[in-house]
Amino acid sequence: MKDILQLIKSRRSIRKFKKTSISSKTIEKILEAASWAPSGLNNQPWRFLVLDEDEKDSLAHFTHYSYIIKGANKIILVFLDKKLSYSREKDLMAIGACIQNMLLFIHSRNLGACWLGEILNKRKEIKKLLKLPKNLELKAVLAMGYSAEPAKKGKRKNLKNLILKIF
Ligand SMILES: Cc1cc2nc3c(=O)[nH]c(=O)nc-3n(C[C@H](O)[C@H](O)[C@H](O)COP(=O)(O)O)c2cc1C
Repeated sequence: MKDILQLIKSRRSIRKFKKTSISSKTIEKILEAASWAPSGLNNQPWRFLVLDEDEKDSLAHFTHYSYIIKGANKIILVFLDKKLSYSREKDLMAIGACIQNMLLFIHSRNLGACWLGEILNKRKEIKKLLKLPKNLELKAVLAMGYSAEPAKKGKRKNLKNLILKIF
């Protein structure tokens, strides 16, 4: 098992994938990890839709990153259920926490994923295509699969420049 800080630091966005399929058992575990994220008042405002190889490509033309969608083995769409919302700001933070849970779990299983945000510019068109109810607002798309990229180091700002003060 990886040390948690090591796991956090070694996770990278993965944009190229092998053809190998992710099992439905693993997908369930990824969503289980998502569902244990914290949320304001424990309202758990997230909902998920998983698209496999046959369905995901219909989303590819909604983004500049179509190659990531096409190359992925599975796509997870993350929605905010507006019916469950009590504070938009806090709900969005909870959705972010649930996505990070997924990314870390995915990485811990030696899989790779990329959080896609640019595709949200076409959220209306995507909802229409997938015939989803009004209360579901698309918040993120995760493309995932077994990584076909070499491990990268990643780059972050120097921690010293981020800390205002530690008393
Ligand atoms: C809200 C959000 C939106 C993102 N949207 C995209 C995207 O549309 N396309 C893409 O290739 N990467 C996207 N990324 C991935 C970032 O580019 C990536 O996390 C960042 O460059 C840091 O690299 P790392 O994840 O490998 O550490 C997104 C990340 C976040 C958190």
